[in-house]
Amino acid sequence: MSNISYKEAFEGYLESELRIERPENLYRPVHYIMQLGGKRLRPVLLLTAARAYGGKVEDALPAALAIELFHNFTLMHDDIMDKAEQRRGKPSVHAKWDVNTAILSGDVTLILAYEYLQAYPAALFLELSRLFNTTARYVCEGQQWDMDFETLQNIELDDYLLMIKNKTAVLLAASLQMGAMIAGASAVEQKKIYDFGIRLGLAFQLQDDYLDTFGDPETFGKKIGGDILENKKTILYVLAMQYAAEPDKEKLRELYFRQQNLSKEDKIKQVRDIFIRSQADQKTLELIEKYMREAVELLNGMEMHASVREDLRALADRLAARNH
Ligand code: IPE
Ligand code: IPE
Ligand code: MG
Ligand code: MG
Ligand code: MG
Repeated sequence: MSNISYKEAFEGYLESELRIERPENLYRPVHYIMQLGGKRLRPVLLLTAARAYGGKVEDALPAALAIELFHNFTLMHDDIMDKAEQRRGKPSVHAKWDVNTAILSGDVTLILAYEYLQAYPAALFLELSRLFNTTARYVCEGQQWDMDFETLQNIELDDYLLMIKNKTAVLLAASLQMGAMIAGASAVEQKKIYDFGIRLGLAFQLQDDYLDTFGDPETFGKKIGGDILENKKTILYVLAMQYAAEPDKEKLRELYFRQQNLSKEDKIKQVRDIFIRSQADQKTLELIEKYMREAVELLNGMEMHASVREDLRALADRLAARNH
């Protein structure tokens, strides 16, 4: 099965599982965000990993749905925290309804994720839950760092990397490991595929940062420049503060930390120009490539069928070329 058909298998399962119940104001937003689309990256990773170690797609679908529900829960709350009005090309949940609705619908989405894990026999359920819970806690830690960094000027590359490992990479890694677990892969293989996921996830978040400033508004699905308006310490900011000429560094600090008499568009443009002048944009692309390469190299050491290795490699390539 290719990545595309894993996505289809997942969409079919989702369609059959999701129904609107009462109160509608609780469940309609869950439906809305789950049906908005999205790449379904985490479920595809989970299903691919399950197949890689000889498991059945069918057996992995409830866990794939649990992971996607968890991901969508984080997005509903993340969009409130980031004041982001757009998601997947449509209004985010709090923009379409209101903040209270997005909080509670987000909460119930998380609970639904836990319920889907209950589909598994006790021993496997325990193993999956342990990984799932630790991962969910790391995501909260990453999200807190992300917010704490908004008001800090100097962020070291290592601190930034730890932040994105937590907020993003661990969930991709855990998706892969859960697939491997369901297939009964050894602890050693589970660890290997987890490490592959971490590398892939770091590249993935670096690219998300890059696209937030340099992406195409037609395809990206989120407002371009949103991170700049929120003073996010993205990889572009971290590298610009490292490599920009002194006057540009000072200017960047001013743009982020002093009240400006600037329109949103002007702030975005001026920050963007500094990212380009300092070559933070090019250096970001190089870093993405480095982590993608490391990820793909890790694949070679894994005991999986060659065709699955190819599937994972193709998936990494497609992610590297993504525009949304
Ligand atoms: C968005 O995730 C949040 C990040 C971790 C960058 P995705 O880019 O996977 O979002 P969808 O699910 O495809 O919309
Ligand atoms: C993604 O961070 C992390 C989580 C949602 C947990 P972002 O805030 O960069 O994600 P987007 O860009 O809004 O999708
Ligand atoms: Mg966000
Ligand atoms: Mg965020
Ligand atoms: Mg982002």
